[in-house]
Amino acid sequence: MKSLLIGLAALVAAPALAADAPKVVTPDPGEIIYQSVCQACHMANAMGAVGAGRIAALAGNKNLQYPEYPISVVTGGKGPMPWFRGQLTDQQIADVISYVRTHFGNHYKAKVTAAQVAESGVPAPHESER
Ligand code: HEC
Repeated sequence: MKSLLIGLAALVAAPALAADAPKVVTPDPGEIIYQSVCQACHMANAMGAVGAGRIAALAGNKNLQYPEYPISVVTGGKGPMPWFRGQLTDQQIADVISYVRTHFGNHYKAKVTAAQVAESGVPAPHESER
């Protein structure tokens, strides 16, 4: 991350005198989480996979239309998918769900908030009776 920032700083600094300075693109935090956490299973194109088990595709997935369902899956896990409540912050869960809801052919623009994640979904295992 540090080297990326240094690289970005160099990019921004060098052509600052040029007529059209480049836009600084802030990476989408949800994208970073998707790539580092979800992509290993759901794949870079979010098409999922069929192998030893079946990994649901997130691309063009109508189940993402309402935030409640992905919030419940990501906080609580589902089948072979691990739960992420306690592994990621509510904000990170909100960001990654917002990301998948607006990429891979999904167009559900309303941002998911950390408050929605805190209020709904599945509690961390130590908080529940499990
Ligand atoms: C270890 C592999 C694994 C990882 C990591 C993983 N998932 Fe999954 N995910 C699965 C599997 C397998 C399913 C299908 C579960 C089932 O239906 O039984 C699934 C299902 C889902 C579903 C429900 C899809 C539907 O239509 O029912 C959503 C939403 C989802 N994952 C989002 C995510 C997000 C966001 C992340 C990253 C924070 C993530 N997953 C990380 C394996 C994974």
